[in-house]
Amino acid sequence: MEEIHKKSAGDFFILYLFLNFVYIERNTKSCMKNKSLVSIDQCSKEDILRILDNAGEFEKNPNRRLLEGKVAATLFFEPSTRTRLSFETAVNRLGGRVIGFQDASTTSSSKGETLKDTILMVSNYADLIIMRHYLEGAARYASEVTDIPIINAGDGANQHPSQTMLDLYSIRKTQGKLEDLTITMVGDLKYGRTVHSLIVGMSHFNPTFHFVAPNELRMPDEQKTFCDERGIKYYEHTDFTEDVINETDILYMTRVQRERFTDLEEYERVKNVYILKNEMLENSRDNLKILHPLPRVNEISYDVDDNPKAYYIQQARNGLYAREAIICEVLGINV
Ligand code: CP
Repeated sequence: MEEIHKKSAGDFFILYLFLNFVYIERNTKSCMKNKSLVSIDQCSKEDILRILDNAGEFEKNPNRRLLEGKVAATLFFEPSTRTRLSFETAVNRLGGRVIGFQDASTTSSSKGETLKDTILMVSNYADLIIMRHYLEGAARYASEVTDIPIINAGDGANQHPSQTMLDLYSIRKTQGKLEDLTITMVGDLKYGRTVHSLIVGMSHFNPTFHFVAPNELRMPDEQKTFCDERGIKYYEHTDFTEDVINETDILYMTRVQRERFTDLEEYERVKNVYILKNEMLENSRDNLKILHPLPRVNEISYDVDDNPKAYYIQQARNGLYAREAIICEVLGINV
């Protein structure tokens, strides 16, 4: 009998240790365990939902002095309006300070300083680096050479995880859920880092995708294989028709990105291939929302702007809240 008691006490102790381990794992688990956000595939479903919830808190109150005494560096090796300004606004609204550049030609990288040395220098001055770079993998590389957190604000045609977080926030806010939605992606699906990231972000929520692109800009095999491996349904189209629009919950328009083409004749052939006009929305679902990471060139006609289904301007505003949540996440600040 004594033996049984001893054994039960031992089992209890092991169970106690196990439960403690699970509790600690759960409560410290974060997509930014290594503190950087370089790709949306670092984030579990729970991570995404927690960050979206925190973004919701920032929407209620964007001005909280959670970054008092912190300096964030914004290093933009490629042009940006929304991403840079919303990140900088986020830091300012949270009481931090911003250093950085928006034109690398004014920095010593124009004298030949390497990305590694630039990152190491900035790490001497800042608590956090928010970086956009034209090279795929640049943010991951930066995260490997410094101990301070890196947030990828877009690396070539690869990833744009903070855009995905604000897209997910916008989708949940407008649809009341993330599960079981039909999302139609239109335009440059080959080079579009926002659509590549969004597929990964939505993969937790049983989406159905329609990919509408000219043959030259089709969704790459890598993303289609990703969907195949997870049993995610997708359909490819070269025509942008009302039939597709009418079975869509989220219409995600994208720009054909001139800067990604090496052959400008090819760009000229495809640049205006799809233009969304207001009349095309006549029989669309009541809950349809039109998203676009912006900037737009010609792909959404201006007559769509007044349609209540147009959501791209509010979507960009949501970027502020999502980025406040991401900054706090990588710095380990409780919201
Ligand atoms: N959506 C987006 O990345 O916009 P910017 O290029 O203006 O930052």
